[in-house]
Amino acid sequence: MRTADDWFVYNCWYAAAWTSEIEEGKPLARTYLEKPVVIYRGDDGRYVALDNRCCHRSAPLAMGRIEGNCLRCMYHGMKYDPSGQCVEIPGQARISPNHRVHSYPLVDRGGMLWIWMGQPEKADPDHIPHFEPLEDPYWCGLPKRCYLHYDANWMLIVDNLADFSHLAFVHTNTLGGSEDYAKESAQAVDKLANGFEFERWHRASGQPPYLQKITPWSEDTVVDRRNFVRMYTPGIFLMDTQFGPTGWDSMPEPPELLEFRNCQYMTPETRGTTHFFWEYLRNFRKGEDDVGETLREVMFEGFFEDKVIIEAQQKLLEQHGDFQPRGLASDTALAQFRRVWFEQIAAERETFPEPVDIIKNPVL
Ligand code: FES
Ligand SMILES: [Fe+2]
Repeated sequence: MRTADDWFVYNCWYAAAWTSEIEEGKPLARTYLEKPVVIYRGDDGRYVALDNRCCHRSAPLAMGRIEGNCLRCMYHGMKYDPSGQCVEIPGQARISPNHRVHSYPLVDRGGMLWIWMGQPEKADPDHIPHFEPLEDPYWCGLPKRCYLHYDANWMLIVDNLADFSHLAFVHTNTLGGSEDYAKESAQAVDKLANGFEFERWHRASGQPPYLQKITPWSEDTVVDRRNFVRMYTPGIFLMDTQFGPTGWDSMPEPPELLEFRNCQYMTPETRGTTHFFWEYLRNFRKGEDDVGETLREVMFEGFFEDKVIIEAQQKLLEQHGDFQPRGLASDTALAQFRRVWFEQIAAERETFPEPVDIIKNPVL
């Protein structure tokens, strides 16, 4: 049985929340890598992530009150500044440097808050896997940025995104369109030091159901679809999608294309549950909110199709530990991702985290 430290890399940036999820004056409680965290926005506009356990008796700070840039525990009133240091204890003048909670580095990039769960001195914002279309006005996003909670290990979601042959069977009526899509599953995968990438063409087919709902082209237009997928550790999925009239990539004059830019971020909440964030941007029918709403609905429908099968898979794997997977040719990408991930864990475990001391005065 793996422990948390066998599962997680701590020294890397994880998607934590869309800024649109942080309501004014209301701290958000969220668990990452099995650690309780509270996120709030201070009066100066900065986003702060602290350990969601008051250092006094472990009351959740998410039940606390935002005061200026600080957060006050609403059990016995300790007040913490954004660095996690306690700056006020009602009825007690002396505040020890030990009266503090951990403050996690947290950075906003294009509306996504990235959190660093490891050693703060190693957190370099230049290494955040920012997705430029999120803040490029050329691209039009959905009316609202999206979040789903999964009762499954995030690696099962990575598996799902690493093998597009599932589109044919799981998403026949939404994202896929026809079972022919699976026949091109075993295309070349480029292995990267931190993940993989692949390009996938589906030629001379009808527009898939999700595009049919918003396409500016006539319904019977025959298209070639190109997907360019990148997947990086810890759980970053980026995809460029282009639709054009069939044969478009060899036309002397590049025709008009319908394009999407998609990011999906998987952050482990625990070994068995996952935060899943996504945005789907387009280059056509921009500014038409009803088109964005239709796209959001059909994408949710598609992602729920994944969620149903992945959560069922998780349940069976938890209930029966004797499962021995048999590999397929289309598993190259997911196998590569797991190999890289477990190598990164092994390398990090040589120095971090250090073994924890036994607690000598437990509350319970
Ligand atoms: S538990 Fe927070 S002040 Fe006592
Ligand atoms: Fe899927």
